[in-house]
Amino acid sequence: MTVNDEPVALRWVRDAADLRAALALRLRVFCDEQGVPREQEVDAYDDVARHAVAVAADGTVVGTMRLVASGSMVKVGRVAVDRGWRGRGIASELLERAMDYARAVRAEELRLAAQVAAAPLYVKAGYRQVGRPFEEAGIEHVWMVREVIPLRRRLRHDAATGRSTAAGSAGTDPGA
Ligand SMILES: CC(C)(COP(=O)(O)OP(=O)(O)OC[C@H]1O[C@@H](n2cnc3c(N)ncnc32)[C@H](O)[C@@H]1OP(=O)(O)O)[C@@H](O)C(=O)NCCC(=O)NCCS
Repeated sequence: MTVNDEPVALRWVRDAADLRAALALRLRVFCDEQGVPREQEVDAYDDVARHAVAVAADGTVVGTMRLVASGSMVKVGRVAVDRGWRGRGIASELLERAMDYARAVRAEELRLAAQVAAAPLYVKAGYRQVGRPFEEAGIEHVWMVREVIPLRRRLRHDAATGRSTAAGSAGTDPGA
């Protein structure tokens, strides 16, 4: 993707340095900015999750998200974008990659605990709220879900509605 004429590459973390940079971004955003205790930020899911990063042209990791597949569900978490890079579509692109991944592993549903303040981001990405808000790490959250529409069905849907959204989005590589 291009942000203000600068290329930003989306990809899965490929080595320990990538993962360190993703975790460092999360600590800056969730702990320093939002006050989440540091011992709660990194947990056992980080060992098994698929982590994505958005990387600026100079190699800086400016966005991240993690995905944990569990049965027919993929849980999206720790969506964070560097303060100076917000409002330019990076989180939205990451969420599209989450859908690509869910399709690739044949999950039926994407699920996430959204901060209530960030819920509009997820609504725009096709998620709907389920249940009532709850508190976690001192922040109000709400569960949100998005049905995974298999690519073939989506192509039919696009044809029927005249939209074209599916090109190049299959597979698990987030780098498109
Ligand atoms: C929330 C966050 C990840 C959004 O990242 P981003 O790259 O700025 O999001 P996008 O640019 O893709 O936003 C897409 C849409 O969602 C809306 N949106 C994004 N963040 C929002 C927020 N916090 N509140 C309300 N709307 C928001 C935007 O207005 C945008 O709509 P637009 O294109 O019509 O303007 C980023 O602000 C962030 O890291 N915040 C701190 C950490 C956090 O709260 N993470 C979410 C945990 S659930």
